[in-house]
Amino acid sequence: MSANGSFGFSTDLAHFGEDEKHLGAVIPPIYQNSLFVFPTMEELLDTMYNNPGGPPHHYSRVSNPTLDLLETKLAHFEGGEKCKVFAAGMTAVSVAIMSAVKQGAHVVAVDGIYGPANGLLNTYLARFGVECTMVDGRDTQAVIDACRDNTTLIYLESPTSLTFRVQDISAITKFARERGITTMIDSTYNTPIHMRPLDLGVDVVIHSLTKYYGGHSNATGGAVIGSAAYIDKLIRSEVVMMGSLLGPFQSWLFTQGSRTLKLRLKQHEATANHIAGWLEQEPEIKVVHHLGLESYAQRDLVKSMMKGTSGLFSFETKQDDKAKVMDFCNRLQLFGRGISWGGFESLVVASHVKPCDYDSPRWFIRLFCGLEDAEDLQADIAQALVALR
Ligand SMILES: Cc1ncc(COP(=O)(O)O)c(C=O)c1O
Repeated sequence: MSANGSFGFSTDLAHFGEDEKHLGAVIPPIYQNSLFVFPTMEELLDTMYNNPGGPPHHYSRVSNPTLDLLETKLAHFEGGEKCKVFAAGMTAVSVAIMSAVKQGAHVVAVDGIYGPANGLLNTYLARFGVECTMVDGRDTQAVIDACRDNTTLIYLESPTSLTFRVQDISAITKFARERGITTMIDSTYNTPIHMRPLDLGVDVVIHSLTKYYGGHSNATGGAVIGSAAYIDKLIRSEVVMMGSLLGPFQSWLFTQGSRTLKLRLKQHEATANHIAGWLEQEPEIKVVHHLGLESYAQRDLVKSMMKGTSGLFSFETKQDDKAKVMDFCNRLQLFGRGISWGGFESLVVASHVKPCDYDSPRWFIRLFCGLEDAEDLQADIAQALVALR
């Protein structure tokens, strides 16, 4: 039921990688163990030194069959050769970035990337002599112009997950390949259902599995996907030295979540398009930043690069008043006040941010449309809008 490539994406989501049935179990078991024993010492040593990522597996800090199944699936869905899964999306981000820099290296990253990724690039890694230049990712020439002789990495997030700005990925990767610069993208928003960055020339794709892949707000996890050579190198260095892989139970949860990814994403997308389209007409709203709207500034690029959008968008209010923004958020009943997204439940978070082209910070209210009825979510927002008048 897997590797011959003759099945559609929904069939693959349901079954890929699961040829082996364990006592006929329809759901694969969880290998909840820290180590594996070998018939001979020679075989153990050979695996440890020559094939640490397995199989065969020798130690769950490095690999495990339950992780292996999820990694096989994620690599296939993304069109990549290999994947490694980590304890959180941020672990995946950190490990991937660290694999691409060294003392004296320079990174170009796009304005609006996930906060802790920004902190890692601009504060933490500065301690080790790594420099980062932030640019407006909508401007491909700005990305190109920011690169120097010592640039080893271009770090993308498209769209950015608060300001919702998109990069022309093919144009950037074309330049990067000519210059021998590694490109990485946080593609959590898209999932491979809506965009496969490896097909657009990106070297390494990162996901927070915590979001759509999990879908049920019951685990944190992250994934790094790329060529077999890249992932093997990652295993031998960052993984062996830092550990921090995903646990077997969490891997099992993400395998279950992945089966319904497409169905869920369709509903998140439809609901967000409905809500965002209605919201942008409301008098209290200055602008809605949603890739699915025809009014969205980079709509042509979205259509050319992506097969769909998502349940996540933000908006700014005309008055931009903190007390009113807080009151709006606090009045919501179906949207929980919380920082994540991608699960079954709707969420709201307010952030005071200054995109690189703004003169001063503004309040961005980010909504995540869960799997509730769109009409109920709309009614909830409508009753809270009174706070913004
Ligand atoms: C776009 C994006 N990337 C990465 C992360 C980090 O993922 P995790 O929370 O699983 O560490 C997040 C979390 O909110 C995110 O929104």
